[in-house]
Amino acid sequence: MPGQGYSRLRAVIRGTARPFTGVLEPPGDKSISHRALIFASICSGVSKLSRLSLGRDVEATYNVLSKLGVDISRDSVDRTMVTVQGDGPWGYKEPSDILEVDNSGTLLRLMTGVLSGVDGHFVLTGDSSIVKRPMLRVVAPLRDLGARIDGRQDGALAPISIRGSRLKGGQLDTKVPSAQVKSALLLAGLFADGTTQVRERVRTRSHTEEFLAYLGIDHRSENSDKGREVTVRGLEYAPKPFELSIPADPSQAAFFIGGALIMAESEVTFKHLYLGEGRDAYLSVLRRMGANIDESRHVDDVFSSGDLKVRYSKLVATEIYDGEVPALIDEVPLLATVACFADGETVFHGIEELRTKESDRVVTTTEMLRRFGARVESDDSSLTVYGDSNFVPRPCSIRSHGDHRIAMCAAIMATRVDGDTEIEDFDCVETSYSNFLDDLTHLWSGETFLA
Ligand code: S3P
Repeated sequence: MPGQGYSRLRAVIRGTARPFTGVLEPPGDKSISHRALIFASICSGVSKLSRLSLGRDVEATYNVLSKLGVDISRDSVDRTMVTVQGDGPWGYKEPSDILEVDNSGTLLRLMTGVLSGVDGHFVLTGDSSIVKRPMLRVVAPLRDLGARIDGRQDGALAPISIRGSRLKGGQLDTKVPSAQVKSALLLAGLFADGTTQVRERVRTRSHTEEFLAYLGIDHRSENSDKGREVTVRGLEYAPKPFELSIPADPSQAAFFIGGALIMAESEVTFKHLYLGEGRDAYLSVLRRMGANIDESRHVDDVFSSGDLKVRYSKLVATEIYDGEVPALIDEVPLLATVACFADGETVFHGIEELRTKESDRVVTTTEMLRRFGARVESDDSSLTVYGDSNFVPRPCSIRSHGDHRIAMCAAIMATRVDGDTEIEDFDCVETSYSNFLDDLTHLWSGETFLA
């Protein structure tokens, strides 16, 4: 179950053979939105953000910063517009209450990094899925920098308690390929004496590095065949505030890209998507499968972005290798959904990290696709879809397990069903995509109900 306050709505999607058509600019990117708020909060002065994600995850970041004393407000008409009056890196106040991250692993990891080096005592916790998510990957290297962090099972699980202290820079290797871990360590490095170097063997999304560059913060980021090394220097002065329009979320577009690819006669244009390294790898996989996707990149943006035109395509199976997975980690359930319609065996290797997400996505993806009648096998670290271009998914009832991405994949699969699909706990889509059903019905003229 996602965070408290959910009313456990059930969605009914009535499949019809109508195509996906039209133009969509999905909501602002979730990963960039979290970081935009956090970075704005350590600047000195007023930052203005627009097209911020309205999902509950980013709302949780907004609330946490507010509890830390940051003056932050939303425009009453356009709620994606947010103003942050940052008080510099030393401006946070010790809160009188615990900090609720709801369902957001990114918020939990990133703020653990930030607050490690800030004066005060902070307790972070979240919903029933957040308290199962592994924290030692962040806590252990932070302790190497001198952080005083505790938690259940010696810091392995939330609630996490942090007694902020003066950190000392150092050299750290991430033990799992994770942008959340890398970002937590780099953010802590901003509050540490000297320099902090973070090395990752497989490159992951680089939004934290993008913000360091954008804000002119002293750092170095180097790619090599051994991965990436990023070095930051502890902040000596507050960065300048900024204005940013957040590019659209490619991971949210992925659901409708999948819908357009599997539904005959579809053609959809997606506007202003973030298309930087670490987020567009799923498009390469889809192209390998024969997907017809035209791309035009915008050249003048801070965050690399562009438009895509996607048409219905005849797809074939492919293999996805370990090294590719970190850059498409959030799109594996959707790629597996699309693979049901691709002739042959699509095999995902090295996907054990999926087990640590909002649900065990190896298990929940397998279960969801099987309920639709697809042939799927999985084990600890791989998943195989036996696809067929003539596959007709059957009407069924799906458990989302409170996982937004599973619920949205099921909704896309449901458009191809001849009949009704019921998806339980559909409210969890609000974690990342509050307008998902509106955008679905904007592009696809089938019927959807909430019950
Ligand atoms: C995220 C990184 C990814 C991703 C998550 C957002 C981020 O997690 O799954 O949705 O914003 O840094 P990991 O890097 O830990 O795999």
